[in-house]
Amino acid sequence: MTSSRPARAGLAHHLRDALDHDLLDPALGATEPLDHRDELEALAIILGLHTGPVDRVRHWLAHQHHPVVASLKSRLEARFLVRVDHATATLPVVAGGAVTAMRQTARATMLPDIYRWVANDAGRGELVEFLSLEGGPDASFDDLVALCQVGLSGRPKLVLADNYWDEMGRGSADGVHTTLHDRMVVSLGITSASLSEQPISGLERMVLNDVLATNRSLQPELVGALGLLELQAGPRCRQVVDGLHRLGADEDALAFYREHAHADPRHGKVWLDGAVAELARDPWWSTGIIRGARWRAAVNQRFFDDMATHFGVERSLQAA
Ligand SMILES: [Fe+2]
Ligand SMILES: [Fe+2]
Repeated sequence: MTSSRPARAGLAHHLRDALDHDLLDPALGATEPLDHRDELEALAIILGLHTGPVDRVRHWLAHQHHPVVASLKSRLEARFLVRVDHATATLPVVAGGAVTAMRQTARATMLPDIYRWVANDAGRGELVEFLSLEGGPDASFDDLVALCQVGLSGRPKLVLADNYWDEMGRGSADGVHTTLHDRMVVSLGITSASLSEQPISGLERMVLNDVLATNRSLQPELVGALGLLELQAGPRCRQVVDGLHRLGADEDALAFYREHAHADPRHGKVWLDGAVAELARDPWWSTGIIRGARWRAAVNQRFFDDMATHFGVERSLQAA
């Protein structure tokens, strides 16, 4: 699954070319993607202008708000969100307020089979390939929390600030989660998957948070999506820790997942009790928070189902 696909002259290709050569023709804004993959890759490129590592995209940044880029962004995002919303139809129905609905959603989709395979069956090469695509509960989580707190006040602001400070290792350089992530990547020899190496479900999962983080109208959905991530990361990371132990991984490989196995159940609880409970007194927040959590659960479900098929997980668990 991580083998590169041949480059195609679709929308993503033309967009990269236009950004490289400062030639954003209005016709590009009306160009149709070749297919779903091309659409997601083009959207990921545009979102990278807003949230990607600055040194990787700095030559394109003057075009961040170019009208052609902006019109493509809103068109591709609208289509993407319709698809994601349809995908929530496969999730169990939830009832009650935002806190209850988020707990129900988290519980119903807590531990996909792929994580039990990670703990008990995956070979070292398979585990490294899975983690390269899954990306851990981090990648850009600190930036997402920072964007999520813009314009909040009171307790929700403090909850997100405290979460961010944990991401920063509470001021200790060695404890910064990105540093722990980098150590894990080196120790296991993980290579981050390029856009063309990601399965479509992986691209959807990657793109969702950035779509929410770059649209203020979707700030409640971002609170819901990040909250769900925190609520589910603990048990999933524990399975990864078990798998790494089983395969004799070293401390550098273990520290990142162990930290999240330990901290995220607390993060999830505080996010719900401190931020969601207070914000959700307002129906605009409540509705959006529930929707965002379900969007996140839906894209996760598609990705983990794809991973299970790719690694033959149902077969291996049935044979066990
Ligand atoms: Fe983290
Ligand atoms: Fe966390």
